[in-house]
Amino acid sequence: MTEDHATLIQGGRVVSADGEYDADVLIVGERIAAVGAVTAPDGATTVDATGCLVLPGLIDNHTHLSMPFMGMWSSDDYDTGTRAAAAGGTTCLVDFAIQREPDQLRSALEEWQGRAAGAAHVDYGFHMAITNANESTIDDMEAIVEAGVSSFKLFMAYKGELMTRDDAMAACMERARDLGALTMVHAENGDVVDLLVKRALHAGETSAINHALTRPELVEAEATSRAARLAEFTGAPLFVVHVTCAAAAAEIQAAQQRGVGVSAETCTQYLVNTIDDLRRPGVEGCRYICSPPLRDVSNREPLWDYVRRGILESVSTDHCPFTDEQKARGLDDFSLVPNGLPAIQHRLSKLWDEGVVAGRITPSQLVDRTSTTIARRFGLSDKGAIAPGKDADIVVFDPNAVRPYGLATSFMNVDYDLYEGELASGSVRHTYCRGTMVYDRGTILTEPGHGRFVRRSSPAVTASVAA
Ligand code: URP
Ligand code: ZN
Ligand code: ZN
Repeated sequence: MTEDHATLIQGGRVVSADGEYDADVLIVGERIAAVGAVTAPDGATTVDATGCLVLPGLIDNHTHLSMPFMGMWSSDDYDTGTRAAAAGGTTCLVDFAIQREPDQLRSALEEWQGRAAGAAHVDYGFHMAITNANESTIDDMEAIVEAGVSSFKLFMAYKGELMTRDDAMAACMERARDLGALTMVHAENGDVVDLLVKRALHAGETSAINHALTRPELVEAEATSRAARLAEFTGAPLFVVHVTCAAAAAEIQAAQQRGVGVSAETCTQYLVNTIDDLRRPGVEGCRYICSPPLRDVSNREPLWDYVRRGILESVSTDHCPFTDEQKARGLDDFSLVPNGLPAIQHRLSKLWDEGVVAGRITPSQLVDRTSTTIARRFGLSDKGAIAPGKDADIVVFDPNAVRPYGLATSFMNVDYDLYEGELASGSVRHTYCRGTMVYDRGTILTEPGHGRFVRRSSPAVTASVAA
């Protein structure tokens, strides 16, 4: 497509974070040129969106493509993972580059840039996960921000592999604060988890469900509270990833009410799956092992309510897929199962059915929680809205096009689908990334490399609500 080729998406209903209205959307080159009653310019491609919703491309701020973890690699790379993203209406993702050398961060960023360049179908940015915070690493944070990576992640769990101690965490938070960057945390008390895992294995409790039982809600709530208190102490803005339960969300709300700059997300799976999925036999139970774990169903409505009220301001996927063969490594010892779920393709359709159709959130809240607020929080200023001048990242979603979940329709590089046999009541018809149609009714149209690295500016640093 030439720089100034025009495409007119006609007759659809545009959904923004603030409301809905019938409007055409004119794309010229990579940007949105007009929204409203628009006449197609000469030579424009016209796309009939009658009966469809026209949404800003979803942004997934929490993915792990080609992630080295627990001695394995997550099974989606930047080609397969971003195909699946596009098929699910995601036009931009922010993945985690993970510090691999003891005293610097730059090599990790180069490594991840190398994996993504020429492979991705949708745009991408990075967060930098610090796994060994020392003076020299902390010095390196400035170079990372200058390279367009304006958020840092710390793991309070995964003792012996990724976990950061509190003193290092406080020091990183202070440096991030001074650099205008955002600190993100995986909040679980890794020391207590380690103790409970050792006890369970000693008692011969080795099956998948024990993964969840050794990571109880209190362990997440305590770490969430500790991280929020450290944010309060250091004055650093904080974003808590993958909040799973009411007890942890209550700590977020309490911090927001104290005026602390703490924001947080949950993920699709915590809104639709439960701890009982880990009770499935054999490797099937292992497929649902992620951290923090899936929770008791009693958390479901409170969690949706925190999302509806915006206390949990966004919903990402934490996409981190492993195949059955990889998962089966821990059939006789749950602590060896690689943690993570394949989820990148299903966020929109699941939130549509379980959120909008079920009456828990409005279409505008869905757009806000999966795109607009994420763009604001993570410094993606060209994305997250359908408005003139923004990147033409657009999803045409047909709310009446039923689509089966399952391997037959999955683009994820994993040999099962967690929702096999279920039906989505609506589905993505077209996905545009910067004006190019990446996905068209079951087919990926772009070559690897269409997706570009996005430099991110300083993120928004205020908590979204203190309700
Ligand atoms: O189980 C998970 N969530 N795997 C990915 C790594 C992380 O903790 O986010
Ligand atoms: Zn995590
Ligand atoms: Zn994650």
